[in-house]
Amino acid sequence: MATGKPIVLSVRNLTKTYRSAGEQIVVLRGVNLSIAAGERVALTGESGSGKSTLLHLIAGLDAPDGGEIRLADTSVSDLTDAGRAALRRDRLGLVFQQFNLIPSLDVEDNLVFQSRIAGRHDSAWHAELVERLGLGGLLKRYPDQLSGGQQQRVAIGRALAAKPLLLLADEPTGNLDEATADDVLALARDLVARTGCGFLMVTHSTRLAATLDRRIHLHAGLVA
Ligand SMILES: Nc1ncnc2c1ncn2[C@@H]1O[C@H](COP(=O)(O)OP(=O)(O)OP(=O)(O)O)[C@@H](O)[C@H]1O
Ligand SMILES: [Mg+2]
Repeated sequence: MATGKPIVLSVRNLTKTYRSAGEQIVVLRGVNLSIAAGERVALTGESGSGKSTLLHLIAGLDAPDGGEIRLADTSVSDLTDAGRAALRRDRLGLVFQQFNLIPSLDVEDNLVFQSRIAGRHDSAWHAELVERLGLGGLLKRYPDQLSGGQQQRVAIGRALAAKPLLLLADEPTGNLDEATADDVLALARDLVARTGCGFLMVTHSTRLAATLDRRIHLHAGLVA
């Protein structure tokens, strides 16, 4: 772990069990993890081990059964639903495998939409993101006019536009060919270093995981 940097994410004793139709699926049994500002961490684990569940809980999209999640000095579980939505908007960047761009907005508007709502639009940073992500010639296009790699670069730009505390990504390069995945992840690593935010990325690829600062593995409901 990077020393001397503030902790942006702290997860303590997190537990989660899904209960449906008389069935109980114990997914997280007491997960602990911390990420410092600027630290880039890969989260691996077999299919069904609970990686997406953990990311959803951190993002406040679902509630844990027990334990605590702190983003900087905010306890996510203490917030109301509206508070968690505001936290996602203002302090978190989210990138998923399906890029979730807004189909009716062009690239430019997809990029600025969230940061404007959050009141955190920064023109100089926006221009830098457009340049670094190579989106200058694509600003007036719509998502369905972009390749997968281009859409993913827009999704990363959008997630970083408001300079979040923490970037959460769930297999962000899962749909991309190896070379494109490498390029997109290299950009994400550099831009994360630029903003100094924390970065937690789910990946099945040990090769991609090895390019981050640290790797944690989720197995049998625990992180090692
Ligand atoms: N909403 C839900 N209701 C019931 N069970 C669920 C729900 N979401 C996930 N699960 C179960 O919880 C376990 C963990 O799922 P999760 O999606 O977190 O795994 P994952 O590690 O992300 O897997 P993958 O690598 O395949 O994406 C699985 O057994 C899954 O079937
Ligand atoms: Mg998953």
